[in-house]
Amino acid sequence: MSMKLAETIKRKPIIGWAIFLVVMVGVFMLGLLAASITERRAEIATLYNNKKVDITGIEPRNEIWGENYPREYNTWKMTQNMDFRSKHLGNMFDDVLEQRPEMVVLWAGYAFSRDYSAPRGHMHAIEDMRNTLRTGTPGNGEGDMQPGTCWTCKSPDVPRLMHEKGIANYYKAPWSQWGDEVVNPIGCADCHDPVTMNLTITRPALIEAFERQGRDITEATPQEMRSLVCAQCHVEYHFKGDDKYLTFPWDGGFTVEDMEKYYDEAGFTDWTHALSKAPMLKAQHPDYELFMMGPHYQRGLSCADCHMPYVSEGGIKYSNHQIVSPLKNVANTCQVCHRDSEENLKNYVYQYQDKAIEVRNRIEQELAKAHVMAKTAWDNGATESQMQQSLQLIRQAQWRWDFSVASHGGSFHAPVENQRILAHSLDRTMQAQLELQKVLFNLGVADVPMPDISTKDKAQEYIGLDMKTLKDKKENWIKTVVPQWIEKAKSEGRLVTASL
Ligand code: HEC
Ligand code: HEC
Ligand code: HEC
Ligand code: HEC
Repeated sequence: MSMKLAETIKRKPIIGWAIFLVVMVGVFMLGLLAASITERRAEIATLYNNKKVDITGIEPRNEIWGENYPREYNTWKMTQNMDFRSKHLGNMFDDVLEQRPEMVVLWAGYAFSRDYSAPRGHMHAIEDMRNTLRTGTPGNGEGDMQPGTCWTCKSPDVPRLMHEKGIANYYKAPWSQWGDEVVNPIGCADCHDPVTMNLTITRPALIEAFERQGRDITEATPQEMRSLVCAQCHVEYHFKGDDKYLTFPWDGGFTVEDMEKYYDEAGFTDWTHALSKAPMLKAQHPDYELFMMGPHYQRGLSCADCHMPYVSEGGIKYSNHQIVSPLKNVANTCQVCHRDSEENLKNYVYQYQDKAIEVRNRIEQELAKAHVMAKTAWDNGATESQMQQSLQLIRQAQWRWDFSVASHGGSFHAPVENQRILAHSLDRTMQAQLELQKVLFNLGVADVPMPDISTKDKAQEYIGLDMKTLKDKKENWIKTVVPQWIEKAKSEGRLVTASL
């Protein structure tokens, strides 16, 4: 072989030169690669060594961190954008009760029947909490509707306050007591240690839930931490006891049944339904728990793999901190692992979502009907013991529906588990109706007229809400009380720029 090559080069020297050139280009490229690797190493080193400000302790002001880490800060700031809509979700404002007025009936007697909108980006967290009718208008002689606990998943001021006032004192205070304290939206200090920049857990409820399961969260791997930082907030929880101590119901496990058992054994009820008088549970947003039941978690993925993809910019690789729907950026999310077209990948998501919505819509209609049937039974003199079984079924049905619906990404994160939960919800809804039919029959009631709940306004009127007064009061409160909070926070140095 080599003899042949030597002879060929002798006869045609141009081939020799060609080989020489190829080798030289190869060497040059290798050199470039080596340079880029050292450069990236140097960049990472500079990132940590060239900090412009020294951050120690709990620093809730995101702007200060921004000085050291402009890329992460600038992408984080983009969570305030409202510029993306997928088929069903996105980062826009959506009035969910307007779209699905049955939900007003499902939540009758509970603050959610006043107001419920789809989640937006993290930078809106404080603003949305202040503006929702669910927090009422405390001050001006009116009491609080909510405890301090409510702020817990909204701001890095929360770990600071817990540190200053004590965890239990922070939770049990009235919500408005922290109005001028909790002012910076979800940010750096919620997820990062300021000195090492390692991911860290700042919310005691998650640490305590692990402890009760006999696990130690400080043993979590870096990949697990890329989900656990989210699990500080995107989970099911309740406010335990008179002190409203934030507690995750995970002692018996993570399934919808495990958590229901926890609540049943604790005799816990979020509220008594205003129409059916059923002892209700309100599911929060069990995103982490449902995600754990799905194919991606089981293959070792973390939340950040899809919601905080890496981006490369001039040789620097960093995590996109604009946490949003992964469908906004399929090339950097799904397509990192799947060799499939953007259209196909989106359609996988939409298929799962459409199928879940099909069942979900049926449940919402039938469950609203079950509440109205129960009300009719009470109105016609039903007794506690006659109603007991139907009310338990309504509690179980609605818990399952809410668990699925409130986990906004659940139909993609864990399609099969989500569909299983919805199926059981529909089953219990129909069982409740069957039981109620028997009660109504015994009471001699032949017909249950359904009220007109075809719009949010009509449904709210039906359950007896005076929305005009609630809205007027809130508008006035936003104009008078909130500016005082912001002013005080600024003058005391807690706020750099007024949040939105
Ligand atoms: C400190 C609590 C907290 C932490 C930590 C947190 N979130 Fe959120 N997240 C929220 C709240 C609250 C909202 C809703 C904000 C609103 O609507 O005003 C939200 C909204 C979202 C949204 C909807 C955004 C949109 O554009 O519609 C996504 C997606 C999301 N979070 C994913 C994550 C992921 C992934 C993590 C972990 C990397 C995480 N979150 C960590 C509290 C948190
Ligand atoms: C909801 C949690 C969360 C918040 C809020 C958050 N980060 Fe991160 N951050 C992460 C995760 C997850 C990573 C990826 C870490 C890993 O892979 O080890 C990360 C990585 C980083 C890194 C390492 C380099 C990189 O980009 O991967 C820096 C620096 C950083 N974040 C800065 C910030 C700054 C500055 C803020 C506030 C403006 C912030 N982070 C807010 C979760 C968060
Ligand atoms: C394999 C990719 C993937 C992983 C991993 C993942 N998600 Fe998602 N997530 C999605 C997709 C896709 C959607 C639906 C987006 C849409 O319809 O626009 C979604 C939706 C969401 C939403 C609803 C967003 C909205 O606008 O209402 C939240 C909240 C969320 N995910 C949080 C999480 C959390 C928390 C984790 C980890 C426990 C996680 N996700 C892990 C892909 C992922
Ligand atoms: C970090 C890698 C990674 C990312 C990012 C990722 N996936 Fe996957 N995905 C996987 C793996 C691994 C599996 C399991 C494949 C298998 O078992 O054949 C999977 C499975 C799937 C499946 C089949 C699910 C099932 O029921 O078994 C679908 C659909 C899918 N992914 C869609 C998506 C979409 C859409 C996105 C973006 C929002 C995405 N994936 C992001 C790695 C990833």
